[in-house]
Amino acid sequence: MTRTATLTFGDQTIELPVIEGSEGELGVDISQLRAKTGLITLDPGFGNTGACRSAITYIDGDKGILRYRGIPIEQLAENSNFAETAWLLIYGKLPSQEQLDTFSERLRFHAPLHESFKHHFEGFPVDAPPMATLSAMINTLSCFHPESPEPDEAEFFEEAARLISKVRTIAAYSYRRSMGLPYIYPAPHLHYVANFLHMMFSNPYEQHVASPEVVKALNLILMLHADHEQNCSTSTVRVVGSSKANLFASCAAGVSALWGPLHGGANVAVLEMLESIHRGGISAEQALAQAKDKSSGFRLMGFGHRVYKNFDPRAVILKKAADEVLGSLGVKDPLLDVARRLEQIALEDPYFVERKLYPNVDFYSGIIMRAMGIPTNMFTVIFAIGRMPGWIAHWKEQYDDQAGRIARPRQIYTGNTETDYVAIGKR
Ligand code: CMC
Repeated sequence: MTRTATLTFGDQTIELPVIEGSEGELGVDISQLRAKTGLITLDPGFGNTGACRSAITYIDGDKGILRYRGIPIEQLAENSNFAETAWLLIYGKLPSQEQLDTFSERLRFHAPLHESFKHHFEGFPVDAPPMATLSAMINTLSCFHPESPEPDEAEFFEEAARLISKVRTIAAYSYRRSMGLPYIYPAPHLHYVANFLHMMFSNPYEQHVASPEVVKALNLILMLHADHEQNCSTSTVRVVGSSKANLFASCAAGVSALWGPLHGGANVAVLEMLESIHRGGISAEQALAQAKDKSSGFRLMGFGHRVYKNFDPRAVILKKAADEVLGSLGVKDPLLDVARRLEQIALEDPYFVERKLYPNVDFYSGIIMRAMGIPTNMFTVIFAIGRMPGWIAHWKEQYDDQAGRIARPRQIYTGNTETDYVAIGKR
């Protein structure tokens, strides 16, 4: 039975189709609203707007559920790794051994950067924000590997593998550049995460061998960040991709969106906040009071989420992992104690309880990355490496959607009505 919603406006009444998703989520299809009534909808921040149908990731924010292609994030965290999860997101099902081997081989093949590409890093100041470098360099990939405007399946496969692989090399090189260290070529015998850590931390005279615990923890962080349905950066990738911009250009825009402190940049802001509390610049109680005071402009970083109004399942996994990783590395980080204390007092505070504000993925991830020796300004870059398969999956889903249209929202205009031009001498 087709369900409808009825809208009455003035003397007009129209029936709008109600669309049901595979998990029972209902949405009113308003695609004919303006044509039939002249009305548009207004939804700042798009909190009530479904921009597409998507079969990639499911979130139930009230129950704290996150699934990639139907598989609970807890199962993937326990059993999978980043390369396999990337394949799952992009191709819709878990890969066979042969598919995974081929994919891993292509990731290895694409890891080196063109020698001329490498020289581009020299053009950036050493203290350039790594997210700016990352976004610029992903766009630069289009110059070295021009994409077909209409990639077929085989071309898309190579582009996806190239991007997932090279984003890791670009990230490591931007770090080496910022430290004044020589670039380290990828090592073909190493898997994705170990290879990244090698490029970050080896030296020409000394091979860095990452411990299995660190490799496992970074795999976990990348998997947990791999997709999150229509978040700000993914929506950006889809909006840019809807103009038929290529995969590299679309994902470079995603990096820019992710950079902001309300999105991926929050992991940096969390660490800065915890450090400030630890140094005694501000107490945990003062930070909480400031976050509740709207005039302060300060928010408790790593807390709250647009969709999760219960707990963020990624934060639950990372909180446990923080204990394990720091324990296995023998690291005692006072910031972990600060984070635990802050979480405890926030979860008992009526302001946070009433607004259903819980720790999100960024609250504990930084502490784990810090224990691995990853500098704070690289945290959001790691988030971007992790989110790449999600962006690619969404770009492809949209590319394949025959009914897809260029993203072009409407507005309610609030500016001047018609106003005459005044010559400069008479103003
Ligand atoms: N500290 C203090 N108050 C908060 C916070 C916070 N972290 N988050 C939300 N609020 C308040 C907000 O002021 C509002 O209060 P009121 O109802 O009195 O006006 C209420 O809670 C609802 O918040 P909202 O602004 O409607 O929430 P949103 O969905 O627009 O924003 C958010 C979501 C994640 C941007 C926000 O919670 C926030 O700024 N958190 C801190 C930054 C952060 O940790 N970002 C990472 C998000 S998870 C990873 C990712 O997506 O990148």
